[in-house]
Amino acid sequence: MVRAPGRLELLGNHTDYNEGLVMALAVDKDVFLAGAPRHDPQVEVISTAFPGAVRFALDGIAKDASAPWADYVKGVLLELQRRGVPLRGFNVAIHSTIPLGAGLSSSAALLVSTALLARKLSPYSLAPDGAGTPLPPFGNGELPALGTAEKLALAKLCQAAENRFVGVNCGLLDPLSSLFGRADHVILIDCRDLTVAHTPLHPDLAAVVCHSGVRHALVGGEYNDRRRSCEAAARALGVPSLRHVSLDGLAAGRAKLSAHEYECALHVVGENDRVTRGAARLRAGEFEAFGQLLYQSHESSRLNFRNSCPALDVLVELAKGQPGCLGARLTGGGFGGATLNLVRREAVGAFREAVEAAYEQRTGQRLESWVCRAVDGAA
Ligand code: GLA
Repeated sequence: MVRAPGRLELLGNHTDYNEGLVMALAVDKDVFLAGAPRHDPQVEVISTAFPGAVRFALDGIAKDASAPWADYVKGVLLELQRRGVPLRGFNVAIHSTIPLGAGLSSSAALLVSTALLARKLSPYSLAPDGAGTPLPPFGNGELPALGTAEKLALAKLCQAAENRFVGVNCGLLDPLSSLFGRADHVILIDCRDLTVAHTPLHPDLAAVVCHSGVRHALVGGEYNDRRRSCEAAARALGVPSLRHVSLDGLAAGRAKLSAHEYECALHVVGENDRVTRGAARLRAGEFEAFGQLLYQSHESSRLNFRNSCPALDVLVELAKGQPGCLGARLTGGGFGGATLNLVRREAVGAFREAVEAAYEQRTGQRLESWVCRAVDGAA
């Protein structure tokens, strides 16, 4: 059995594929895989979330439009094969406690857990450049613990699986968060230097998720469009990525960009700035000021990046009026999904009750909310 947690993006929206900065938590919602080897080179996958079994041969991995959920498993196995890892057949059962389509990255948790399960059944190691080497079988089934460099290589493998096989051009935030989570800590990721650091999440602060019930689907569409616009903006500004642009630099180069490119770039460059300031605020215990940055992030999503939606805007607006709420914003890709609310712990019960009631009254929809704990990464 292996487990990989979902993640909550605390601050730093759509910065990861722009070589930017992001803060996240690995949370106490997981994908669990139970696997066992087979005697033939086949893989059979079942899930508690979808009916039927998906069966395929390891030498003929291909998409199957009737079971797109299995693409995450297939994509990882293909990437392992590409890296020279010989795989044996296996059966695997999937169970997830991460709500689908909420923006908590059930997809990355499935990718990461698949890579870890494959490592147990067909032991391998990954070099920093991604090259895979089979490891000799271990007598007691225990594998060497994953070091930082190998976790990074695994995260890149998962990203490649999602980019190349699933078809979403996502960045490294989700697999990195799932792998580098630390209990009661915020993960600070620099996607240019590929470094990960941790800072404590003060016990007085609670991360409350409010799920709008509007499902987001990142496959294709808007997400890839935003990424293209960010990359076009960087090209027009003559830099390798938006990480190389300051707010002043962006203002100076505005004439070189289309209105949409400018707004996308403004969001990303602004988010990098907010993450830098936010990390300092968190460390200094200035939680009110930190929360303001979350509200600003949401405003920028709404107005500049346009990856919010009416349900998410209502949720942020309702949260803002609650005592003990320090900040709120959409979390993850956007276009639906959930908001993240930073709430003083003693106010959590009243906050959830009030927002749930007000949301239902406003929209006629039931709101699901829950408190997330920051947990250790995948194992
Ligand atoms: C999704 C993607 C991530 C990241 C976020 C937005 O979760 O999978 O790579 O881009 O959106 O920050």
